[in-house]
Amino acid sequence: MATNRTFTMIKPDAVANGHIGAILDHIIKGGFKIVAMKYTSLTPEKAGEFYSVHKERPFYGDLVKFMSSGPIVAAILEKDNAVEDFRKLIGATDPSKAEAGTIRQLFAKSIDANAVHGSDSDENAQIEGSFYFSAFEQF
Ligand code: PPS
Repeated sequence: MATNRTFTMIKPDAVANGHIGAILDHIIKGGFKIVAMKYTSLTPEKAGEFYSVHKERPFYGDLVKFMSSGPIVAAILEKDNAVEDFRKLIGATDPSKAEAGTIRQLFAKSIDANAVHGSDSDENAQIEGSFYFSAFEQF
């Protein structure tokens, strides 16, 4: 994946609460182009693998359980400065600390069910995008 790309998931809480359309609208209006997208889900094993970098953290078990609790939307997004700009668009991990108008402030209820994921580096964006999409599925 090129470095002007990032990876996102619309998490099970936001999917269950009917926010897919509104969140995608926010992403597109924020200047991001969707270059790959799928409606899918994670088994506990796949969620554990995706979040393995956090396996020593106290919330790891809850995070894996939550992320495998229902369908998600996975997508690769393109924009100049994608990783940093997308982290700004989604807001702080804890929605009670997220700036007004950010996706988490608008659509998330708690730190453990916080509506969206955004890659934290170009390197992780590449790894995470490839976790879901083959080269042929990225436009
Ligand atoms: S980050 O993205 O690494 O800067 O954020 P971080 O705060 O380190 O959190 C890493 C991921 O763990 C999720 N998280 C939690 N899940 C459950 N319970 C608690 N308390 C909690 N704290 C953080 C957080 O949403 C991050 O997941 P992603 O998918 O990257 O948003």
